[in-house]
Amino acid sequence: MAKPVRKAVLPVAGLGTRVLPVGKTTPKNLLNVVDRPILSYIVEEARAAGIEHMVFIVSRGQGAIEDYFDSIPEIENALSAKGKVEILEDLRRDLPQPGQMSFIRQMAPLGLGHAVWCARHVIGDEPFAVMLPDMLMQASPPALVQAVAAYEKTGGNIVVVEPAPEGETHKYGIVALDGRDGRLNRMTGMVEKPPLGTEPSNLFISGRYILQPEIFNILETQERGAGGEIQLTDGMFNLMKTQDFHALEYEGTTYDCGDKLGLLRANVAFALARPDLADAARQAIKALL
Ligand code: UTP
Repeated sequence: MAKPVRKAVLPVAGLGTRVLPVGKTTPKNLLNVVDRPILSYIVEEARAAGIEHMVFIVSRGQGAIEDYFDSIPEIENALSAKGKVEILEDLRRDLPQPGQMSFIRQMAPLGLGHAVWCARHVIGDEPFAVMLPDMLMQASPPALVQAVAAYEKTGGNIVVVEPAPEGETHKYGIVALDGRDGRLNRMTGMVEKPPLGTEPSNLFISGRYILQPEIFNILETQERGAGGEIQLTDGMFNLMKTQDFHALEYEGTTYDCGDKLGLLRANVAFALARPDLADAARQAIKALL
C-alpha cells in the first residue's frame, strides 16, 4: 500500500507581479474571495484531504500570513464578551492545531522548484502534496481529495491537470500521456510552455501535485530553466525517468487568483455558491449588467 500523504507544501513566496499594486503590501494569497482570504479555502481543501501538517514557503514582508493563522485574543475576548458566538466561531475556523503549520523563508524568489526544495527538512522521507495557493479550485469533492484518491490507486506521483482554453496551451505546463482513457492516465512527459502546434495534449498542470520525496535530491542540483527560474516541472521531468507519474483530470473549476480577472471571477463564482449570499449576489450582478 502506498504511504499516506500527511503533509502539504504551500509556496506563497513569488513576486506576484500580476496583482500589483495591491500585492505591494498585502500578500496576494490574503486577498479576499467573498469574505475570506484565498488561503482560507486552500487550507480547508488540505484538511479535507487529510493533511496534518502544512508548510508555507514565504518571503520577507509576508508576516501577515502567520498572523492570520494565529489567534487574536483582543478581538476574540471582545466577541466573546458581547456574545457574538457565530462571528467568533467563523474566526476560529481557520486556526490550526498547535504545531500543525510551519513557515519557511525562501530568501530569494528563485522559482517554484526552489520553493518546494526549501521544505525538504520538514517533509522528510515521505510523499507530500504541493498546492499552488493562487489556484483556487471549486470542486466537490475538493481537488486535493480527488488527487489523494487517485494516488491511493496508482501510488507514485500525481499531477492534477485540466484542459487549457482553446489556443492557449503555449501559456502553460502541458503533459504528455500514454493514451487517454478516462480521467486518470499514465504520463510520458511534460513540457513547459510548448510553442503552439507542438503541444503533446491540451491538458495543463493546474496547481495540485502529490510527489515522492526523491524530488528533493533532484531539485538540489536542478539548473535554472524557463525564465531563469528553478522549475518544478524540470525536476518532475527528471524524476519521471525513475518513477511513475499519473495525470488526473480533476472535476471542478479553477480560478487563477494570481491574476486580476481570475480573482474577480472567483469572487463572483464563490458568492453565487454561498447559500446565504447567492440571491443577493445574483441581483447585484444583474443590476450592474
Ligand atoms: P507564479 O508563477 O504564479 O509566480 O508562481 P508569482 O511570482 O507568484 O506571480 P507573478 O507571475 O509574478 O504574478 C506560482 C506559485 O509559486 C510560488 C508563487 O507564490 C505561486 O504561489 N513561488 C514562485 C514561490 O513560492 N517562489 C518562487 O520563487 C516562485
